[in-house]
Formats: sequence, C-alpha cells, structure tokens
Amino acid sequence: MLTIEVSEYNTAPGAYAIVFIKNGRALKLFKSYNHPHLDGTGKEEISADRTNEYRKRVYQTEVDAYNLIKDSGLLKKFTPLFYGPISITKVIDNGKDISDQFLLDCCYEMEYIEGIAEKLNIIHGNSEILLPLEKNLGFSLHEIIKEFVKLGVHYTKDSSAVYGDKVFKIIDFATKDSEEFQPIIGVD
Ligand SMILES: Nc1ncnc2c1ncn2[C@@H]1O[C@H](COP(=O)(O)OP(=O)(O)OP(=O)(O)O)[C@@H](O)[C@H]1O
Ligand SMILES: [Mg+2]
Repeated sequence: MLTIEVSEYNTAPGAYAIVFIKNGRALKLFKSYNHPHLDGTGKEEISADRTNEYRKRVYQTEVDAYNLIKDSGLLKKFTPLFYGPISITKVIDNGKDISDQFLLDCCYEMEYIEGIAEKLNIIHGNSEILLPLEKNLGFSLHEIIKEFVKLGVHYTKDSSAVYGDKVFKIIDFATKDSEEFQPIIGVD
C-alpha cells in the first residue's frame, strides 16, 4: 500500500496511465473515468462504470503480459524488470486528494529506464534508429516480437521502447488489443 505525493515524483503521461518515477522505479497508475485527460481512450460518452471496467481490463492485459514473459531470457533482456502490481492508497497533489482520477487498484511497478521513449512502429519504420541499435546491442526486433507472440503477448502494435547508446527496452505491451473488448455505444 502506497500514498503517492505527486510532487515527490517525476511524471510521464500516457493516454491510459500516468507513470510516476522515483529512485529508479516507475509506477504505471491507470486513470479513471474522472481523470481530466483521457485522450480519447476513456469512452467518456458511455458511463463511468463501463469505462472504468474497460480500463481495468486494459491494465490486466498488461500485467498478464509481464507474467507470461517472466521466464524468457530474451525478453528479460529487452523489457524493464517487473516488480508486480502495487495497490495505491491515495494520490495527493499539492495537498489536494485527487485519488478519484485514478483506478487505485490498477497500478504496477517496473524498473525505470533512462533514455528516449518512442513508439515501436516509429522505430521499426526508421532504419537509421533501428539498425545501429540492433547491431550495437545484438538483437533483432523481429525476433523479439516473435518471442512475445510465442508466449501469448499478442499486442505490441502500440508499444513503445526506451532506447539509448546502451539500452533498448520495450514497454507498454499486452496480451490483447483493447479494441477487442472496448465498450461500444448503444450495446450493453
Ligand atoms: N519503465 C519505464 N521507463 C522509462 N519510462 C517509462 C517507463 N514506462 C513508461 N515510461 C514513460 O511513460 C510514458 C507513458 O507510458 P506508457 O506508454 O506505458 O503509457 P500508456 O498510457 O499506455 O500510453 P499510450 O497512450 O502510449 O498507450 C512512456 O511514453 C514513457 O515516456
Ligand atoms: Mg498504452
């Protein structure tokens, strides 16, 4: 159980979550229906319950993915260390309790990777970035994706990687594409 004091962390925003960074660790905490910036991923027009249920499933597909890859030597090398789910008690920002903007039971902790964060499809389409990384760090992105799929992690289309001279780690992968289970207006 952990209270997040926002001012104590560096933050990196995503559409589904905010990543809170401190002491070499990153906490990915998913936003709820009440968060002001859902960037089109909220299905705001549906209902709080269904939106939150949907977002919780997205979280679960990411935790499932980390659990599925834990025995792969290859993927251990090219993903952050995973410390598992962590339950958040409260989120406090400047003395204000903003817990309702988050799904407090949808948070996982991983290793923080220093580097440039970029969507995998951009890296994949840019050989000036990809080829030197593959050569210098001795990997094949194609082989890494094949290994994810073999282990049941089918959704890397929207993943990112954090990279630098000595590092290439894939983040934000999941067992399923959330489009498969997103709520649809007018359908219960
Ligand atoms: N382990 C990590 N190490 C370093 N930075 C990270 C890590 N995890 C996430 N980040 C940063 O936080 C940002 C948001 O994380 P992530 O992409 O997982 O969130 P998301 O809500 O799923 O985003 P998206 O809208 O791209 O699906 C990343 O773009 C990256 O800058
Ligand atoms: Mg994502």
